[in-house]
Amino acid sequence: MYMCFTVLAGLALLTFSFLKNFPYFGEDCTYILRIIKLGIRLLGYKTIKPFYSILDCFLDAVKRHPTKIFLHFEGREYSYGEVDVQSNKVARALQAEIRLKEGDVVALFLANEPSFVWIWLGLAKLGCPAALLNFNIRSKSLLHCFSCCGAKVIIVSPELQDTVEEVLPMLREQGISVYLLSENCSIQGINTLLDKISQASDQPLSPDLRANVNIRSTALYIYTSGTTGLPKAAVITHERVWAASFLQASCGVTAEDIIYINLPLYHSAGFLIGMTGAIERGNCSLNLHRNFSASQFWDDCRKYNVTVMQYIGETLRYLCNTPKKDNDKNHKVRIAIGNGVRTDIWSEFLSRFGDIQVRELYAATEGNIGFLNYTSKIGAVGRANFVHSWFFPYTLIKFDIEKEEPVRSSEGLCIKAAKGETGLLVVKITHRTPFVGYAGNHQQNEKKRLRNVLEKGDLYFNTGDLLRLDHENFLYFQDRVGDTFRWKGENVATSEVADILILAHCILEANVYGVKVEGHEGRIGMAAVTLKEGEEFDCLDTYKQVVSYLPAYARPRFIRIQPCIETTGTFKMKKVRLVEEGFNCTYIKDPLYFLDLEKKTYVPLTEEIYRAITSREIKL
Ligand SMILES: *[C@@H]1O[C@H](CO)[C@@H](O)[C@H](O)[C@H]1NC(C)=O
Ligand SMILES: *[C@@H]1O[C@H](CO)[C@@H](O)[C@H](O)[C@H]1NC(C)=O
Ligand SMILES: *[C@@H]1O[C@H](CO)[C@@H](O)[C@H](O)[C@H]1NC(C)=O
Ligand SMILES: *[C@@H]1O[C@H](CO)[C@@H](O)[C@H](O)[C@H]1NC(C)=O
Ligand SMILES: *[C@@H]1O[C@H](CO)[C@@H](O)[C@H](O)[C@H]1NC(C)=O
Ligand SMILES: *[C@@H]1O[C@H](CO)[C@@H](O)[C@H](O)[C@H]1NC(C)=O
Repeated sequence: MYMCFTVLAGLALLTFSFLKNFPYFGEDCTYILRIIKLGIRLLGYKTIKPFYSILDCFLDAVKRHPTKIFLHFEGREYSYGEVDVQSNKVARALQAEIRLKEGDVVALFLANEPSFVWIWLGLAKLGCPAALLNFNIRSKSLLHCFSCCGAKVIIVSPELQDTVEEVLPMLREQGISVYLLSENCSIQGINTLLDKISQASDQPLSPDLRANVNIRSTALYIYTSGTTGLPKAAVITHERVWAASFLQASCGVTAEDIIYINLPLYHSAGFLIGMTGAIERGNCSLNLHRNFSASQFWDDCRKYNVTVMQYIGETLRYLCNTPKKDNDKNHKVRIAIGNGVRTDIWSEFLSRFGDIQVRELYAATEGNIGFLNYTSKIGAVGRANFVHSWFFPYTLIKFDIEKEEPVRSSEGLCIKAAKGETGLLVVKITHRTPFVGYAGNHQQNEKKRLRNVLEKGDLYFNTGDLLRLDHENFLYFQDRVGDTFRWKGENVATSEVADILILAHCILEANVYGVKVEGHEGRIGMAAVTLKEGEEFDCLDTYKQVVSYLPAYARPRFIRIQPCIETTGTFKMKKVRLVEEGFNCTYIKDPLYFLDLEKKTYVPLTEEIYRAITSREIKL
């Protein structure tokens, strides 16, 4: 019945599209047929017994071509077979050492290395969800990650040993065992794992060990920074893993492609769209990198015949900023998948590096909807069509930015935004579009739910994102509502930054926000602060707090000293005016400070510094 309707809907749409939207007819058709095919496959996975997970997909690939290269990393190659064997050893070592059993959560605090992949596969073989920790986090945020996912074990890369040592007493208090991916370690309370893995048997593990895993079970926890400050663990079920892994397929990636991954594997972009997406394609090779390097990127692509790349807004700009070369267009990259690129960078990227299909997508780790730019319309994240709205019943509603809430009619219902008008994206929560939510965070889950949207008693997922639909049905991403902003491709939670700032002895209150800087995507961190009675702003102490507790991208580069902080009627700090005023020292009369990385302190923001920043003499 479901399939029948899907196909009918598809046919109806084809006719409809042809008449209504002739210019995009071909692209609409290709895309719609692809998503219908994938929809049918996902339905298959929902019903098949025993459950077929992405791990089973990997194991099938191992059977088909054990010697084919799965991973390239720093000049070494690992075949499908080798990765499989390694993951068997990991699973057996963990089973013997910690008695891990189905359902136990293990936190991974690992760098982007092949071992990330086989440790995850090993856990999947035991039916254990992995919690993927961002390797930039530390102290309070790191400890918090355990309380949301319930992990009792953490596996740590040797280069992250110091970060873990800092919180070791607290970890031990919570009964968390720490395993270092090394053969030796002299710190009491840190166990080694590499020695145990190398001694373990490489025999395959029985699927009975994961017999209870099904499409609704938790496969992963992926952390997103939330408005409350501390990271929130989005629960990624196997259904979500499949849905996200299909993105490559819907972008036209084939089994012969070679995929370049330089985004962190702890994010959904690198892990789900990049890595498990490649497993779904069945025959791809992955070119894995520790981190992003603009200067190496194209040489790597040429060397390894890379055909598919991923980006986040900033990375395309970094590539465009590298010195021009004669061989810029000499490569085999044909598809770029990602999100958050500015349209001018997009155009520059294409004119410089040649005919690459840029597949801009919109999706949130915890959300229940995705859009994909499958046409060649610059600036659009996707296109509204009948099949898509049927799969994902979404709507854009009028939103009051200042009050940060939807506009409601006299009957208390939300109002649909007109075409061309920016609105809040909300998606009906249904069986097909479930909202799984965050682990152990009822309050945050409630905040993402919106009731009485178009009818009394209905229930929607509030994406917290503002989008606009144009008259040709193209969708454009406008902004994120409220308290999180993005800088260098990372979400910065303003309250987390505020919590750190007030550790400085002179600061009473802090209101953190992001401001635009000419020529940069995203917003850079800025804070308006009030000082304690009788205190002066202490540049060095504030600098010390910020640098010891916040990752580089989250540190406020500008500080504005205010006599008091303006709040709304509901005591929320007002940010809109502050954001507009930015750090323009000719306009703002309050004292302003700038985080000077060379001098290792905050310094008063002078006209000269301001000019150097806007003319990009000072790199941010
Ligand atoms: C571990 O042992 C190797 C030699 O086997 C040595 O080079 C290394 O420094 C040791 N590491 C630690 C942390 O003790
Ligand atoms: C896998 O890729 C190889 C070449 O890379 C190709 O010869 C083979 O047909 C592919 N197999 C499948 C199942 O796509
Ligand atoms: C990338 O990784 C290399 C090697 O681990 C390191 O030296 C470099 O600092 C890293 N770059 C960034 C931007 O993190
Ligand atoms: C890349 O492709 C060329 C020609 O198609 C081939 O000669 C070369 O061996 C390939 N390189 C790698 C690393 O596979
Ligand atoms: C959509 O893709 C096309 C072609 O790949 C590209 O030119 C266009 O800029 C994209 N739109 C957005 C918003 O990225
Ligand atoms: C900064 O403020 C001054 C004075 O209000 C104004 O003339 C100037 O355009 C502003 N600069 C920017 C970049 O907005």
